[in-house]
Amino acid sequence: PVRKLKEGAFSVTPPEEQKRAIDSNIDGKKSTVTITVVGASGDLAKKKIFPALFALYYEDCLPEHFTIFGYARSKMTDSELRNMVSKTLTCRIDKRENCSEKMEEFLKRCFYHSGQYDSQENFVELDKKLREHEAGRVSNRLFYLSIPPNIFVDAVRCASVSASAASGWTRIIVEKPFGRDSESSAALTKSLKQYLTEDQIFRIDHYLGKELVENLSVLRFSNLIFEPLWSRQYIRNVQLIFSEDFGTEGRGGYFDHYGIIRDIMQNHLLQIVALFAMETPVSLDAEDIRNEKVKVLRSMRTLRIDDVVIGQYKSHTKGNVSYPGYTDDKTVPKDSLTPTFAAAALFINNARWDGVPFLMKAGKALHNRRAEIRVQFRHVPGNLYNRSIGTDLDMATNEFVIRVQPDEAIYLKINNKVPGLGMRLDRSHLNLLYKARYLKEIPDAYERLLLDAIEGERRLFIRSDELDAAWSIFTPVLKEIEEKKIVPEYYPYGSRGPVGAHYLAARYDVKWG
Ligand code: NDP
Ligand code: BG6
Repeated sequence: PVRKLKEGAFSVTPPEEQKRAIDSNIDGKKSTVTITVVGASGDLAKKKIFPALFALYYEDCLPEHFTIFGYARSKMTDSELRNMVSKTLTCRIDKRENCSEKMEEFLKRCFYHSGQYDSQENFVELDKKLREHEAGRVSNRLFYLSIPPNIFVDAVRCASVSASAASGWTRIIVEKPFGRDSESSAALTKSLKQYLTEDQIFRIDHYLGKELVENLSVLRFSNLIFEPLWSRQYIRNVQLIFSEDFGTEGRGGYFDHYGIIRDIMQNHLLQIVALFAMETPVSLDAEDIRNEKVKVLRSMRTLRIDDVVIGQYKSHTKGNVSYPGYTDDKTVPKDSLTPTFAAAALFINNARWDGVPFLMKAGKALHNRRAEIRVQFRHVPGNLYNRSIGTDLDMATNEFVIRVQPDEAIYLKINNKVPGLGMRLDRSHLNLLYKARYLKEIPDAYERLLLDAIEGERRLFIRSDELDAAWSIFTPVLKEIEEKKIVPEYYPYGSRGPVGAHYLAARYDVKWG
């Protein structure tokens, strides 16, 4: 049975019975899908891509005929790849469960080919192997580029010229970073489009595959109570908070070239803003949704330097433990000014959101790990309770929180009377805590996105005009920070980050949640 995504969005099937099935076009006996992980020896492939593919296999979501190929320069045999991959596979439903049989079956479908990323010859060899596995069926090929960005175009050229599917579709998933600014991103798009059509390019932003980010549209558009409040009339400010309690360990070399604004804000947080703030799309069709996202992104004011605070973590000792500073990483230049923390105030110049600050805060090596959307509502006009019993003004402000991770939850802070004979107000939570409501483990973002790419569902991938609009907002400020060599505010590893973020928020009468 085929469950198309759109029907599924409004399905009332109990969660444990819901299962995504693949597109009928590739479910037949006569066709096959090959997924080639380019850069299979790397960190992302091991950590996320192979485990996500296994989870999909475990859930019976992959087509009947499928093959997985790893491709990289490292020399490996099929069994060495299987051995490497097996170390990061976990059982999908319950990590304590024994799913070794399923793992064995999955690993038997994994193969490896070693080659250079810019060698047509090596890709022709890969093509030959893929054909053998396809065994005359209609072939559909998905290439996942899990490699550093400087070799994206070479790999795309070789894959499309020498290893495209002969009969079915060829799609390429591209990992971020999609450039460093408007110009380099446009140049990358232009190069990719020499070999691929826009429909073949799946630009991944894994935050779009997170359960609570996907739920944003469901919340907004399928509940009567939210949408009427979703505007400047009732919302005072919106906060997008990303924080990690570890530094750039192991990825300093990559990170130093990009910094936190490009690593987190321009993509993950901005994508959330677009979904949060867009107008109602004509339908749930990928193009209709992406049209609305582009519209709202294009309505955003270009970010100004006065509206940005940057920081960088420094070493800190707590008890007997010492935590390294950002520049202690050997792959980071000692005099690096790259921000590992940033706070920014963004504005949308349209009728719905005029004047509402969208505050973003993203940082590494902070005191906790969380990703949240916080919506602070305006004060109740002429609030009886403020007047009569002199409660704190803030008391009357509702706050709606979508906790993307960890402990996924959606909760609304309301004011409530403390039970008893007196009249004392208390702030309580109406709380939808996912682990209390749903027994099933939440799928990893990469599972959803890989399955979507196999199904040809583009809703959660970034279209090139979206990308252009996103870069336009951030490029001038990124250039100014770099050209003026603006010194970041230093904060200790494990702290709450630079105090400048509080001043920025206070300028817009906001307190961080
Ligand atoms: P890696 O640095 O681990 O690189 C992946 C593979 O590419 C390596 O195993 C290596 O394979 C090959 N490679 C590395 N450097 C070079 C080079 N200079 N020239 C040619 N080949 C090279 O990357 P990740 O796995 O961490 O990330 C892959 C992509 O995903 C990147 O674009 C990254 O920005 C993005 N990403 C990564 C995340 C993560 O958590 N790791 C998170 C989000 C995005 P071999 O030597 O065998 O050819
Ligand atoms: C990646 C960033 O895109 O997202 C990393 O490059 C960051 O720096 C990661 O750590 C966070 O993803 P998640 O899913 O762990 O929140």
